[in-house]
Amino acid sequence: MTQIMCSFRLLLLAILMIHFSSSVKASYDVTSFGAKPNGRTDSTKSFISAWTAACHSTNPATIHVPSGFFLIGPVTFNGPCRSSRITIQIDGTLVAPSNYANLRNLEQWILFDHVDGISVYGGTIDGHGSPLWACKAAGRNCPAGARSLVFRNSKNILISGLTSINSERFHIVIDGCQVVTVHGVRITAPGNSPNTDGIHVQSSTDVTITGAGIKTGDDCISIGPGTTNLWIEKVTCGPGHGISIGSLGNEYEEKGVENVTVKTAVFTGTENGLRIKTWGRPSEGFVKGVVFEHAMMQNVRNPIIIDQNYCPHEKRCPGQNSGVKISQVNYMDVQGSSASQVGINFDCSASNPCTGIGLQDIKLTYGNKPAKSFCEHVHGTASGSVVPSCF
Ligand SMILES: *[C@@H]1O[C@H](CO)[C@@H](O)[C@H](O)[C@H]1NC(C)=O
Repeated sequence: MTQIMCSFRLLLLAILMIHFSSSVKASYDVTSFGAKPNGRTDSTKSFISAWTAACHSTNPATIHVPSGFFLIGPVTFNGPCRSSRITIQIDGTLVAPSNYANLRNLEQWILFDHVDGISVYGGTIDGHGSPLWACKAAGRNCPAGARSLVFRNSKNILISGLTSINSERFHIVIDGCQVVTVHGVRITAPGNSPNTDGIHVQSSTDVTITGAGIKTGDDCISIGPGTTNLWIEKVTCGPGHGISIGSLGNEYEEKGVENVTVKTAVFTGTENGLRIKTWGRPSEGFVKGVVFEHAMMQNVRNPIIIDQNYCPHEKRCPGQNSGVKISQVNYMDVQGSSASQVGINFDCSASNPCTGIGLQDIKLTYGNKPAKSFCEHVHGTASGSVVPSCF
C-alpha cells in the first residue's frame, strides 16, 4: 500500500514537473518562423521574428537554430527584453551575404544591443570576409568592413562553443558590457587578412575569456580603453598579432585599463606575444594592474613588448611622447623562443615612464642563444631567473 502511494505521488510529481517546465520554457525554432537552412534564402526576418517572440516571452526562452546554413543580412537583436533569460542554441551556420557591399558602411553584421541574460551555445558564424580583404589588398576604395558579432551595452552574457570564421573585420566585440563569459570559442581567419582581430573588449567590466583557440590576421585578443577586471585564461594564438592592450591613448580624454589577467597562453608564430601599445600622443589614459602569467612563446617576433611610440605615418604625434601611464605590470613564467633578437622590448614614454614592472622566471631564446632586451624609460624589479632582463 505504501508502495502504491509512493508511486502515485511520484507520478503526480512527474505530471506537475512536465506541466511546470512546459509552462516556464518557451522554445522558438527559427525554421518555424520561415528560416531556410539552404544557405541562399535570406532568413533575416525569420530570425528577427524568433527574437521578438523570445524577447517578449514572460518566461525563460530558447531560440533554436537547427543544422544547415542560414543566410542572414546585417541584423540587430534589440533589448531590453521581458524575458530574463534567453538561450540561443545554434547547431548550424549563420552565413553573411556573399557580397560585402551589402554590409557597406555598416559597423557590424550581428549586433546584440541592450540585452541582459543571453546565452549563445554552439554554432558557426561565417563573415565571408574574403571579397573585402581582396578589395583592401588591391588598394581600392573599400569600406572598413563589418565586425561579425557585437554585444553592446549589455550584461550577463555567455558565449560558449561558438566558432567564428572569416570576419570582414573584428570577429567578436564586447563593448560597454558587464559580466560576460566567452568560453571555448574558435576563431579562424587567414594570417594575412587585415583587421580581423579575434576578440575585442572595450568599455567593459568583469569579462572572462577562457579556452579560446584563435588564428587570425590581427590581434588574437585586443583590449581597448575602459576595460576593467578582465580575465583571460587558456588561449592559443597564432597566426596573429598576439594579445594586445591597445592601441590606447589615441584620444586625450580616454578611460584607463585596469586589472587585467592573462594566464596560460600559447603563442605560435605570432607577430607579438604579450603587448601593450599606446599612441605617442598626449592622453589621460592609463594601464594599471596587469598580470601576464604562464605564457609559452614559439617563434614569436616580439614575445614581450610595450610600445608607447605607436604613430602610423608619423602623423598626429607631437613630440612622440605618450601620455598613457603604464604601471604595475607583472610578467611571470614566460618561456620560449623569439623570432627576433629582442625578446623583451620596453619602449616606454619619456614623459610618463613605465613603473612597477615585474619580471619573474623569464626565459626567452633567439636561435640557440639568450634573447636580448631593449629597455627605455622603464622601472621595475626582477626575481627568480630572468633572461633577458631590464632590471
Ligand atoms: C580583478 O579582476 C578579477 C576578475 O578578472 C576579480 O576577480 C578581482 O576581484 C578584481 N580585483 C579587484 C581589486 O577589483
